[in-house]
Amino acid sequence: LSDLDTSDDMREVFEYTLSAPGKRIRSVLILWCSELFTSTLNPNAEIAAVAMEMVHTCSLVHDDLPAMDNDDLRRGWPTCHKAFDEATAILAGDALLTAAFEVIAEGVDDSVMAVRLIRELARAAGPGAMIAGQMADLKAEQTGGDMATLQYIHTHKTARMFQCAATMGGICGGASEDDLHRLADYGLKIGLGFQIADDILDVCGTSDQLGKTAGKDERAGKLTYPSLIGLDQARALAQDIARDAVASLDTFGEKADILRQLASALLNRKK
Ligand code: IPE
Ligand code: IPE
Ligand code: MG
Ligand code: MG
Ligand code: MG
Repeated sequence: LSDLDTSDDMREVFEYTLSAPGKRIRSVLILWCSELFTSTLNPNAEIAAVAMEMVHTCSLVHDDLPAMDNDDLRRGWPTCHKAFDEATAILAGDALLTAAFEVIAEGVDDSVMAVRLIRELARAAGPGAMIAGQMADLKAEQTGGDMATLQYIHTHKTARMFQCAATMGGICGGASEDDLHRLADYGLKIGLGFQIADDILDVCGTSDQLGKTAGKDERAGKLTYPSLIGLDQARALAQDIARDAVASLDTFGEKADILRQLASALLNRKK
């Protein structure tokens, strides 16, 4: 952050939103996927992890805005628009998103790799993926939807960013095209499982435990796995998806054990 060209006002907002105690799962996924191919700490993967966390944080700042999910609490702290104001939160999202690409362009030491990483992140966060999912999520509050709609929403708003993280890790590690496909498959599946678990936690968790308002999905009329198929079936489905995800890692052997553990940890998490 100290290297970033930003006004003092926006720096304060960056510090607030980026230092909040998030789980950093997508960024850790980049590091672990790169470590499948390079045993030492990989500086390009660290840069990619920072950029990923910035884009993810942008998505949360905007997701919490009154026009979207209208949340007051995020990562145990007041949401950005509560701690500052709405205009600042809109601009902070724009700034986090834009600066993430600058971070990769400036920080990755191989320009071909930088462009590949930028392309992956732009696609996953863009109008065909995360934004598409967020739009469909909001639309479904009004229209409802079936299993195909729900799968579309969760895959696009959340799973594509997990897929992107796994792929970016592979790119930083110098993975082959075949291995990138395996990681993409794993990432998409754990991402879908992650969002199903998020829906379940919204029903079963407390705001204190989650660091965000519990019980919001039902009040907002969100289309979720628990609302469509019930908690038990949602849990069973998440388990099946995690099992499938792990199967994509077969060729990586023992060094992928941490990714196998992650698949189940994401379902059994308490926040
Ligand atoms: C929240 O993601 C948004 C969803 C896709 C459910 P996380 O649960 O990873 O949020 P942080 O980064 O840990 O706060
Ligand atoms: C958010 O999904 C997905 C993105 C931010 C892209 P949710 O709306 O379910 O996330 P929470 O529950 O507010 O963290
Ligand atoms: Mg939302
Ligand atoms: Mg939300
Ligand atoms: Mg949620």
